[in-house]
Amino acid sequence: MALKPKAAKKLLIFLGKSVLALVEAVVFAIIPKPRKNVAGEIVLITGAGSGLGRLLALKFAQLGSVLVLWDISQESNEETCKMAVEAGATRVYAYTCDCSRKEEIYRVANQVKKEVGDVSILINNAGIVTGGKFMDCPDELIEKSLDVNFKSHIWTYKAFLPAMIANNRGHLVCISSSAGLFGMNGLADYCASKFAAYGFAESIFLESFTKGQNGIKTTIVCPFFIKTGMFDGCTTGCPSLLPILEPEYAVRKIVDAILQENMYLYMPKFIYFIVFLKSFLPLKLGLLLGEYLGAFNLMDGFTGAKKKN
Ligand SMILES: NC(=O)c1ccc[n+]([C@@H]2O[C@H](COP(=O)([O-])OP(=O)(O)OC[C@H]3O[C@@H](n4cnc5c(N)ncnc54)[C@H](O)[C@@H]3O)[C@@H](O)[C@H]2O)c1
Repeated sequence: MALKPKAAKKLLIFLGKSVLALVEAVVFAIIPKPRKNVAGEIVLITGAGSGLGRLLALKFAQLGSVLVLWDISQESNEETCKMAVEAGATRVYAYTCDCSRKEEIYRVANQVKKEVGDVSILINNAGIVTGGKFMDCPDELIEKSLDVNFKSHIWTYKAFLPAMIANNRGHLVCISSSAGLFGMNGLADYCASKFAAYGFAESIFLESFTKGQNGIKTTIVCPFFIKTGMFDGCTTGCPSLLPILEPEYAVRKIVDAILQENMYLYMPKFIYFIVFLKSFLPLKLGLLLGEYLGAFNLMDGFTGAKKKN
């Protein structure tokens, strides 16, 4: 059946734009994308008191950004603040904020807007993990995981997205997890919160894209285990393909992804292959592969939650 002229034109435009997008992807796979300048940008990092949050703060300090650091722990957040100044930051603001509480997020966000200005890079990084079998997890901890790891992203977007929309400029960074890409034995509530955070960030990206707000970028980060203490005691069944990552390496990759405005960052690279396999392999083969990689016993020696929560 012949296409009507209007449908043919639509198809040609689609094909032309697709070819351009493919060429762009191939070029940037070979030549690194140019990095944006974040000097003077107001960067808010939640969970800045330790681990990835602290290291991210130090990187953005070196890049000349204005830092807004949030953490539930005043002491460790102030420690990060001092370290950021030593790393070269000239403007750093530390706020104690419990990201599991919507009203507190809104209150502290208003304070930030008055005292510092409009946030242009929002990094939703604060996170907690319960760990353990689902039926053994206390309800309060399950709720807390969802509040910190997922719902806080909704409330921070509500607080800071309006200014980004008004200026058609900003960057939203979601620190999800490989546990936001596939389920994991012993991490049901954590996985649920990380899948939700991923889906939320991707959906808001699409919402702004369809409204033509192309100046608002999104980066979604899905790392495997990182040596920050959060997953202490966990092991990898296959260190060559799924190594436990060094925090400095993970943060370097995250900052690169932000500066190059990449939408997705999975690490290590084998995670991309697992996601691909998940879509195509018959379930039984997938389970056999999971068993072979030791992927179902990763949480066996877990002691991280006892140390952190
Ligand atoms: N470490 C890993 O293996 C790993 C892997 C994938 C994803 N992640 C994600 O990376 C992010 C950072 O984790 P990390 O490894 O640096 O852990 P971390 O425990 O070192 O840091 C988490 C920070 O969040 C803060 N925090 C916890 N509850 C909070 C709350 N209610 N309000 C405000 N701040 C709160 C903590 O005080 C801490 O400073 C988390 O979202 C985590 O889920 C970590």
